[in-house]
Amino acid sequence: MSTTSELKNYREKLEEEQFLRPQYLKEYVGQEQIKEMLEVSIKAAKQRKEPIDHVLLYGPQGLGKTTLAQVIANEMGANITVISGPAIEKTGDLAAILSQLQPYDCLFIDEIHRLPKVVSETLYSAMEDFVIDIVIGRDSDAKTIRLDLPPFTLIGATTAYGMLTGPLRDRFGLTYKLDFYSENELKLICERTARIYGNKIDENSTIEVARRSRGTPRITNRIFKRIRDYADVYNNGTVTLDITLKTLKSLNIDENGLDDRDRDYLITLMDHFRGGPVGVDNLASALSEDRITLENVYEPYLIKSGYIQRTARGRIATPKAYKHLKKDIF
Ligand SMILES: Nc1ncnc2c1ncn2[C@@H]1O[C@H](COP(=O)(O)OP(=O)(O)O)[C@@H](O)[C@H]1O
Ligand SMILES: [Mg+2]
Repeated sequence: MSTTSELKNYREKLEEEQFLRPQYLKEYVGQEQIKEMLEVSIKAAKQRKEPIDHVLLYGPQGLGKTTLAQVIANEMGANITVISGPAIEKTGDLAAILSQLQPYDCLFIDEIHRLPKVVSETLYSAMEDFVIDIVIGRDSDAKTIRLDLPPFTLIGATTAYGMLTGPLRDRFGLTYKLDFYSENELKLICERTARIYGNKIDENSTIEVARRSRGTPRITNRIFKRIRDYADVYNNGTVTLDITLKTLKSLNIDENGLDDRDRDYLITLMDHFRGGPVGVDNLASALSEDRITLENVYEPYLIKSGYIQRTARGRIATPKAYKHLKKDIF
């Protein structure tokens, strides 16, 4: 399932984003309720000299799951090992990783819904009793040996909460759903990113970037980096509203923050399916995408901002979507 290039991309993305990542809770913008609850759990765990309970973070891409996992480890003063679900193909791979953990370490498994079933089953006892059973040898010679693990914290992240098995979900003591960010929070993130890169940026520009970031910090940073290229080359690093608007235009991000992919989705829904209701599988095949990607990547923001609705009979485009794309309702 996993390819070498997929893993390489994953590594590169991690490294590229690393230096923009907040390290501690106080730098982590937004998600106030989650931060509040985490702060208590972290304090309690430290007081008791125990690892913090296993944490599951879920929500759409780019909302800060990986960042928050690292923040939790930093706040605990713990080491963190980072792996991606698809990279663990066999139970033995997981056993090798688990057996190297030191007491109180955090193990972060990204895309945990993509762990093969047998591997995720091995996690059950690791999480609950800090032991794993490994089978050695074959057939009639096969022996099971039990391996004790140090107390550790598993932090799982997923964009597809629904794909986790019940028993796995149940073993996380702390489960948090990350939500899209407000414009004001994204503005703060944009200001912070500009500060880290050493670029001057005016308030109107940060407001514009925030408005058009699809509620997503990763997009704020991505847009900012392109704006910065332009500002560095043409304006001694100072960002102006003119530069900001030009960059957004070149990225095909419209005045409501929708990108090519969003518009593709909406236009397909309107033109091929008369605005719905249409089942997600039909829509997915018309877009040459799989259902999981549609549900977890395309749709959350479109639903949240009222362009589409998920009904029992399928997806429908709302009047807001027709108005925005200047199309007549069927
Ligand atoms: N709460 C936040 N405050 C500041 N920056 C954030 C926050 N959440 C995410 N980011 C930025 O957005 C980028 C993407 O976040 P990431 O944790 O990789 O998202 P996810 O793992 O959910 O896909 C990171 O590089 C980070 O700099
Ligand atoms: Mg991530």
